[in-house]
Amino acid sequence: MKLLVTGAAGFIGSTYVRLVGDEHEVVVLDKLTYAGRRENLPEDIDLVVGAIEDPAVVREAMEGCDAVVNFAAESHVDRSIDDQDAFARTHVVGTGVRLDAARELGIGRYLQVSTDEVYGSIESDSFTETSPLDPSSPYSATKVAGDLLVSAHVHTYGIEASIVRGSNNYGPRQYPEKLIPLMVLNAIHGDSLPVYGDGRQVRNWLFAEDFCRGIHTVLMNGRSGEVYNVGGPDECENIEVVKRVIELTGANESLIEYVKDRPGHDRRYSLASDKLRNELGWEAQVHFAEGLECTVQWYRDNEDWWGPIRSGEYREYYEKQYGKALG
Ligand code: NAD
Ligand code: TYD
Repeated sequence: MKLLVTGAAGFIGSTYVRLVGDEHEVVVLDKLTYAGRRENLPEDIDLVVGAIEDPAVVREAMEGCDAVVNFAAESHVDRSIDDQDAFARTHVVGTGVRLDAARELGIGRYLQVSTDEVYGSIESDSFTETSPLDPSSPYSATKVAGDLLVSAHVHTYGIEASIVRGSNNYGPRQYPEKLIPLMVLNAIHGDSLPVYGDGRQVRNWLFAEDFCRGIHTVLMNGRSGEVYNVGGPDECENIEVVKRVIELTGANESLIEYVKDRPGHDRRYSLASDKLRNELGWEAQVHFAEGLECTVQWYRDNEDWWGPIRSGEYREYYEKQYGKALG
């Protein structure tokens, strides 16, 4: 198949392209925002630099493709709290533009990559695909809008589309604004480790390669109009994650600094993946202990990747977000 993969210069999209690139012809459309990096992609990839909300660019990139997989997003909750504008444009307008183009060009299959955050926070048990949508942040609210547009296009125009909702991902090439790479790089540099609130929030950790295997399974065999959850095999409190990073990097626990909580902070995410497991046979292959060790090792080995990030836009973002400079 010829696949248009949007947003593949980011963390999860680049993992996906590396997973399926030998088996399928891939075209990438990516705006190369602060989180999108050319070097995340294989050198010989067909890359179109442009925005998913630009109809002409989207049509041209999509022409001749058999399927579309959408990763393109503004992905960081804290940035959405600061300014929601790009979130609404990318998640809502961008999704609409791609869906229109897919319909007009008669694309056979459309897959929307979404998040467990659309369900909001859950104290006990796990969200299923029929749980109510109850987003808390501008990030998750605009992701909901994108998901609903996909469902509306299936219902109204009969396009072939599915939605995949993943839990918190981690792994190589994740931009260091996110919890795990932020803590790994700060620990390596002896910078303080900023834990929001009491640090007892729980996230359901999913190795990005496992998520991508789930996404590809749904693209190939999922039913149109359906949502599939892809949850990680392990849950962990943030403070435990930070302590494990400290162990793996040999840093000192005194680096932990409890800081002001995120406004509207979701307490716990947990996804049930029974539908994907029972219908399509997907199973997570990487447990958190193993995946975290391999992720820490990747950051240790890839200063070429994170060096330019830590000295660029990220420095300014960090100072604004945390009120202190990186060392
Ligand atoms: P990321 O921030 O690393 O990458 C996003 C990519 O999208 C970047 O390459 C960026 O340049 C591109 N992009 C952003 N706006 C664009 C636009 N308007 N036009 C074209 N390209 C644009 O994000 P990620 O962590 O790889 O997330 C990928 C997808 O997976 C997102 O849809 C996100 O909501 C979803 N998701 C992420 C997680 C997670 O833990 N990171 C969990 C579940 C679902
Ligand atoms: P994050 O990686 O931003 O993902 P999400 O908000 O999508 O779950 O954050 C994961 C958890 O870690 C979340 O509970 C917020 C917390 N966190 C911190 O405690 N300190 C930090 O510096 C960051 C970035 C996140």
